[in-house]
Amino acid sequence: MAYFYDEPSRTFNEYLLIPGYSSAECVPQNVSLKTPLVKFKKGEEPELSLNIPMVSAIMQAVSDDKMAVALAREGGCSFIYGSQSIESQAAMVRKAKNYKAGFVVSDSNLSAASTLKDVLELKEKTGHSTMAVTADGSPNGELLGIVTGRDYRISRMQLSDLVTSFMTPFDQLICGHADISLKEANNMIWDNKLNALPIVDNDHRLLYFVFRKDYESRKSNPHELLDSKKRYVVGAGINTRDFAQRVPALIEAGADVLCIDSSEGFSEWQKVTIDWIREHYGDKVKVGAGNVVDGEGFRFLAEAGADFVKIGIGGGSICITREQKGIGRGQATATIDVARARDEYFKETGIYVPICSDGGIVYDYHMTLALAMGADFLMLGRYFSRFDESPTRKLMVNGQYMKEYWGEGSARARNWQRYDLGGDKKLSFVEGVDSYVPYAGSLKDNVALSLSKVIHTMCNCGALTISELQQKAKITLVSATSIVEGGAHDVVLKENTPSSNQ
Ligand code: IMP
Repeated sequence: MAYFYDEPSRTFNEYLLIPGYSSAECVPQNVSLKTPLVKFKKGEEPELSLNIPMVSAIMQAVSDDKMAVALAREGGCSFIYGSQSIESQAAMVRKAKNYKAGFVVSDSNLSAASTLKDVLELKEKTGHSTMAVTADGSPNGELLGIVTGRDYRISRMQLSDLVTSFMTPFDQLICGHADISLKEANNMIWDNKLNALPIVDNDHRLLYFVFRKDYESRKSNPHELLDSKKRYVVGAGINTRDFAQRVPALIEAGADVLCIDSSEGFSEWQKVTIDWIREHYGDKVKVGAGNVVDGEGFRFLAEAGADFVKIGIGGGSICITREQKGIGRGQATATIDVARARDEYFKETGIYVPICSDGGIVYDYHMTLALAMGADFLMLGRYFSRFDESPTRKLMVNGQYMKEYWGEGSARARNWQRYDLGGDKKLSFVEGVDSYVPYAGSLKDNVALSLSKVIHTMCNCGALTISELQQKAKITLVSATSIVEGGAHDVVLKENTPSSNQ
């Protein structure tokens, strides 16, 4: 006979935290959100940690190189989507790894044949007044000179005047060399009272600009997640089919951590994939696996050698797996069950395998709950898809700005590998939808706000770290009627009253 669970499976919405004692030390500035990303032995430090407990979902609509840079800058990590060709995914990883904070590829470029009219038009288009004049007019061409607002006076000049007649020519420019550090570049800017410092290679080809105006924003990323060469930490998704080609290309491109992206991870294919990685790279290549929703699935992947295990089936906002196939588990129950198995495994083996709660986070407080229930970090799709940095279009729909967001199992993404069970039969139904989400602005502002709520709640629970939260948290189920009590109720809201932030 089938196995029946005694309890229904539950979502984050059905729980609340009960505050614990907060000592005078329990203040937001003392809270650390640092959390392990990959497994480690008792008493040792993990080789990779996150500075904030957030990673972005392995999805076309969420994680490209731009998202990877923006999230690593705040202390998290993106897993660049794998439902694209190996070459284009590796190119995205390479781009994010080569991104140098503060070093900006020039977006306003002219050639020697350009005129004052072109300068004015370009300024109108980009809003930038510093322009590079390069031999071929490209961002990385041989630098001939620079034009800024100080080089021309419209009232005294003809629109047909060539830029070469009024630009500051290369031999009068102060430039940085290719391997200059950001600190050295900043010093050159200050010492020479520059607004922009061009960085050129030995052939005078323009590589980047470093701008004085960016100095303050560069200083304000205290949590940025960097590798040993001071490059951003970048992750990438892989599948259980083409790993023998994809993994080498991603590692060559500089990926720091991989994750097998599958809707159902309690399968032999995951072990085959991890075995192949261990055989070819040993423990040097870090790879997470999933998704599972119970302790048995966790143990299988931990024993297979996964560096972290991802939890969640059917809870994603764009997911219709439960409706289509009738499999899945409430995300809260799944997280609690897997966290228990993770702790048992740690007790038995002395190996701590971090777990990631993937999908189903709607309100910011769900993040705190998932962490309190035992998740070491969270994977979010819908959350990040709403920001400027996601790769999708921003559109006006019914008078409101929206961003597009679609599932990897939707007809649009066609990421059939994620749902593939092997064999010859190809998938013939979708497990995800194509949708809009309300546009929410910049990643930086939203992450700061969400995490400040997490941090304040941690203080209410008397916890200064995530592991302390996991030990001290007191969690209660809520009744359906008390959920109504939790929102504004029995009042008439004034217009423009902000509703709860998501
Ligand atoms: P969200 O944060 O609630 O939007 O959930 C994102 C998660 O949903 C992803 O990290 C995936 O695990 C999962 N997911 C992505 N695309 C699909 C799909 O098409 N069907 C089912 N689950 C999906």
